[in-house]
Order: sequence, then structure tokens, then C-alpha cells
Amino acid sequence: MAENLPFEERYYQPPYKQLYKESLEEPEKFWRKMAEEIEWFSPFQKVLDESNAPFYRWFIGGKVNITYNALDRHLKTKGNKVAIYWENEKGESRSLTYSQLYNEVNRFAKILQDLGVQKGDRVLIYLPLMPELPIAMLACARIGAIHSVVFSGFSTQAVVDRINDAKAKLVITTSNTMRRGKRVELKRIIDEAVSQTPTVEKVLVIKRDEEIELNEERDVLYQDLIKRMGYKKVEPEMTDATDPLFILYTSGTTGKPKGIYHLHGGYGLWTYLTTKWVFDLRDEDVFFNTADIGWITGHSYIVYGPLQNGATVLMYEGVPDYPNPDKWWELVEKYNVTVFYTSPTAVRTLMRYGEEWVKKHDLSSLRLLGSVGEPINPEAWRWYFKNVGRSQLPIVDTWWQTETGGIMISATPGLGNYMLKPSANGLPLPGVDADVFNDEGKPTKPREKGYIVIKRPWPGMLAGVWGDPERYIKTYFSKFQGVYYPGDYAVKDEDGFFYILGRADEVLKIAGHRIGTREIEDVLISHPAVAESAVIGIPDPVRGEVAVAAVVLKQGYQPSDELRKTLIEYVRNNLGPIVVFGGLYFVSKLPKTRSGKIMRRVVRSVISGQTLGDTTTLEDETSVEELKKIAEEFSKEIQSQKNQQ
Ligand code: WT7
Repeated sequence: MAENLPFEERYYQPPYKQLYKESLEEPEKFWRKMAEEIEWFSPFQKVLDESNAPFYRWFIGGKVNITYNALDRHLKTKGNKVAIYWENEKGESRSLTYSQLYNEVNRFAKILQDLGVQKGDRVLIYLPLMPELPIAMLACARIGAIHSVVFSGFSTQAVVDRINDAKAKLVITTSNTMRRGKRVELKRIIDEAVSQTPTVEKVLVIKRDEEIELNEERDVLYQDLIKRMGYKKVEPEMTDATDPLFILYTSGTTGKPKGIYHLHGGYGLWTYLTTKWVFDLRDEDVFFNTADIGWITGHSYIVYGPLQNGATVLMYEGVPDYPNPDKWWELVEKYNVTVFYTSPTAVRTLMRYGEEWVKKHDLSSLRLLGSVGEPINPEAWRWYFKNVGRSQLPIVDTWWQTETGGIMISATPGLGNYMLKPSANGLPLPGVDADVFNDEGKPTKPREKGYIVIKRPWPGMLAGVWGDPERYIKTYFSKFQGVYYPGDYAVKDEDGFFYILGRADEVLKIAGHRIGTREIEDVLISHPAVAESAVIGIPDPVRGEVAVAAVVLKQGYQPSDELRKTLIEYVRNNLGPIVVFGGLYFVSKLPKTRSGKIMRRVVRSVISGQTLGDTTTLEDETSVEELKKIAEEFSKEIQSQKNQQ
């Protein structure tokens, strides 16, 4: 007899599955629905314009200003809610509610207007992680000016290049920041930089503690202007969805950083949605993203994503292990942080100090952890999961890039999808049509290594490379016809999970920071002692990767430990302390093809002590025999130096 068992024909899956399907099957309908979640001054007529591909443009005809969604719209319901908690290494703190932040941004916007900044003008911001950094960014965005934030760890040359490339009119900086108890003189770096930047008219200086020297014609003190100004309201500029919001420079395979730029509409919606989908932020959450706002992670997930979601963020101006390696855990406990987002490098750094530093604190407020910037190795994953996550919290591993504007591959707790596999990044977010291609541009089989590609545009995608449309096409849309090429190796498994395996190009990831080998080589050969150089990356237990250089000296220069030190310092002074060297070797010549191309693969194998590997597929005209000879000579020189050290 048929018993009435409780079986159902239908079953329900997390909204993720449904949404993902909809996003690819009915994109027009899907994006119209998603776009309703943010406020538009006037609606768009067209979701996606592909007529000038690959310069895709989203939400054509729509008027929207990202700061309206980040500030104005929360005033009624969240005016008294904390938007930003801030603390520095001395333990000084500040907090800003949404209405306070709104007021600060309005006043700052008025100052920018008074200084003659107009819609479309570029403003370079060189500030540490202080509240005025997001305030300045939002103030620019409010009046339709385009900000270009330069990480405050970068040095003069990086600032000069970025100002000149974007032709910035105004620079915003502050007197100093503290790094491990030492003052870093930021204003001095700007003084040096602006003597080489003809477009800069004014420097707006935010004074911190001490008196600072001002250049009367050029510098204006923020505090002076604020004092003279009463309450000011600046209506947000009626920017088009396709108006530029910011430029952020990142490294590529040439010596010149690329100015990646993003737009008010698409980037705005993408950061809003991805914050919700991945971090699942609720009203009572406190979100601590340990990144610096000088990188895209901070732009998207300290400033624009969380604020558009009306969330509370915590900003910490300092490093994780100063004054003690429990600074972050102290902050988690003190501010009741619920969602914590950091990088594998930071985890590995803290891991070295031992778990007792974590154990000193009550981390029970945490409910979700995240990772970003580089692949996370199993050892670091387990440590993070066990010690920070109490062996029970999900870790969302988020893969994305400066260029993608927001997270592309991850778990999506906000859509009910917690599915995690350690060492997998996860599944593509709704709207992300990702795949893995082989060299022929064909999809690979599961578990077969290839290149990750994104097969259709998404709202958060970069709008272009500032001032260099050719480079945009060449870098991102030339390897495979009609698809976006991120430059990472990847595999997919049978369940569709993606595993990102690292860069496929000549770009290093040192502590999660992107730096081109060519950029380092260019600086090295600009030194009077250096004739030629080849830079490669080697694995490093903490930083993921570090740089190693092989250097050929000019006639008249002799190798010495002192010169080695000088050259390393020279690079770090020029590019910033993010460049960490694992070694620098002096050689009499570099392994090259007959046509003069440096064989980095040979350099890499020799330096990391591996065999040359398969030489039969070499794409150059140097014979295998000849190559072996060159490699041997090169190897001898490196070995003798390694033995000396
Ligand atoms: C490159 C982008 C996205 C914000 C931080 C870095 C690598 C990023 C992951 C991850 C493996 C990752 C890729 C990517 N990367 N996140 N979760 N797993 N690799 O931004 O400086 O633009 O660098 O970082 O190689 O291409 P970025």
C-alpha cells in the first residue's frame, strides 16, 4: 500500500543558483532588476552598449552619483549609525556617523570647488589610512572630479608618474603618518614630487600634529579653510552612469603603470551588489577590511561597497604586528568586528608569531572571514580557520583584480551559498561568465590548467586604461578574441569551482602587491652602474613571492656588497618599500636569445635551482645546445655568489 511519505517533487536551492542562471540567460531583465537596488537621479535607457566593444558601457543615459548612494540615501534611516571607526597605532581613535561623514564630505567638496576643481578634473590623493582619505575621495566623486589615490607607501617617483599621466590639477596630502613608531614625512615627498609636475596648481594639506612648512603660493591648509567655512551643503553632481569616478594605477608587463579607470554607474552597482552577496552585511555588522585604501581592495570594500550598503567599517592606520602582533585581534575584540577581510600574506606574517597572540582575545563577535590578493596556501588557510575562525567560520576566498572593480569568484553567503572547498576560490558571482581556456582559446577539461577568462562584460569592469586605449585592447582583449583576459592561471573542477593558480605574465605578487618585473628592471637600468638586468620572482614563505635580480654592470663598476645594497635601496626608494628582494646577483651577461630577448625562464630556473626543464618548446631561435651553454655560464656565476653569501 502506498504510504504517504513526505517527498516533494521540487527542491529549493540557494538563491545563488537561481540568480546566476537568470543573470546569464536573461541579462537585460536581470540587470534592470539589480539596478533598482541603488538610487538613480534619472533612469537609464539601455543596460549595455556594446557598439564600441571592447569599450563596453553600462546603463546608458542613466544619471547616478555614487556618493548619493553612499551618503544621502542613508541620512534618514541611518544618520546616527557609525559609518567609520578609525584607530591608529598609538591607540588614538575617531568615529564618524553617517550624518557626520555626510557633513565632512560636503564641506570638503565645497573646499574643492573653491579651489577651482571641476567635474572631470583629476585630483591626486596621497594620504594614509586616515578618515580624511575616504572623505576626500567621496568629496571628489560628489562634484564629479576624478580621484587618483596613490598608496602612501609609494615614493616620489611613483607620485610624479601618476600625477603626470593623469595631468592632475590638485594634490591632497597630509604632514605625516606613523609606521612602526616612526614618522613618515608624506608632505616632503609631495614637495619633491610637485617640482616635477607642471599640471599641479595647488596642494591641499591636512595638518596633523605639528607645524608644517608651507609653500605660500602653492600650498593651502585644510584646517584654515574649514575654520572659515560654516556648514556647507554641496548637491551631488548629476553625473552620468558612464562618467569616470576614479583612476587607480596598477602594474602590468611594461615599465609603465596602467591607469585603470572606473565609472559611477557600473562600478557603483557592482561594488554595492558584491558587498551584499559576498559579505552578507547586516545592520549590526562591523566590517574590518585590513587593506589600505591605496589599493582597489580598500576602494571597493572599505569605501564604496560598504558605504553604499549603509554598513559600519573599521579602518586601522598601522601594520598588523605593531605595537604587538595582536593589534588586529585587539581591534576585533574592542569594536566587536563581525566580518574580517585580509590577505594571505598578513595571515602568514601573524602565523609566525604563534597562536598565543590570537588566544589573548575574545574573537567571538566574528561570523565571517575573507581572503584576497593571492592564492592562500593550505597551511595559512588552516591557521586562519582554526585560530581566527574558531574552526567554524566560513572563509570566503575572493578572486578579483583592480580591473574587475569588485569580487568575481567567491562563495556568496549573502545568496545562501556557503559552499566552500579549501584552496578553491569558489564559483563565479551572478553576471560573471567565467571559464578556463587553453592556449588555443578552447575551454579546458575539468582539472586541466589554463587561463581564466571572462566571456562577457560585467558592470564593474574597467572602462579603460587612462589615456591609452590601445593598451587596454592589447592587454585585456587580444590574447583571446572577444573575451576579457585577466592574466591568471586557473583550473576548474567538476563542480565548476575555480582555483586561481597565480599570474601567467611577468607580474609579481609581493605580499599581495602587484609589481611588474619590467618596472623593477627599468629602475635598475636607470642607475648609472647598471647596464642590463633581468628580474624574476621566487616563492617566499611569508610574502608569497619576492624579487630577484640578475644585474650586468657597466664598464668601470665592480661588484660589491655595498653596490648590491645601494641598488636594492635605489629600487625601493624609487618604487616604494613594497618591492622586497630575495637576492641581487652580479653577472657578466644575461642569457639571451639570438635576437636579444632575455630568457627569463632560464634566469628563473637557474636562480631557483631547478633544472632547465623542457627546452624543446622554446619559442626562440637559439638551439638547445647553445641555450645549455649560456645557462651553464650564467649558472656558474650565480652559484659562486650564492656560495659566498
Ligand atoms: C591579482 C590582482 C583584488 C584585490 C587585491 C589585488 C591575484 C587576487 C586572489 C585570490 C588568488 C588572487 C591575481 C589577480 N589575486 N585575489 N583570492 N586568489 N589570486 O588586486 O593588485 O589588482 O591584483 O591578484 O593574480 O590577477 P590587484
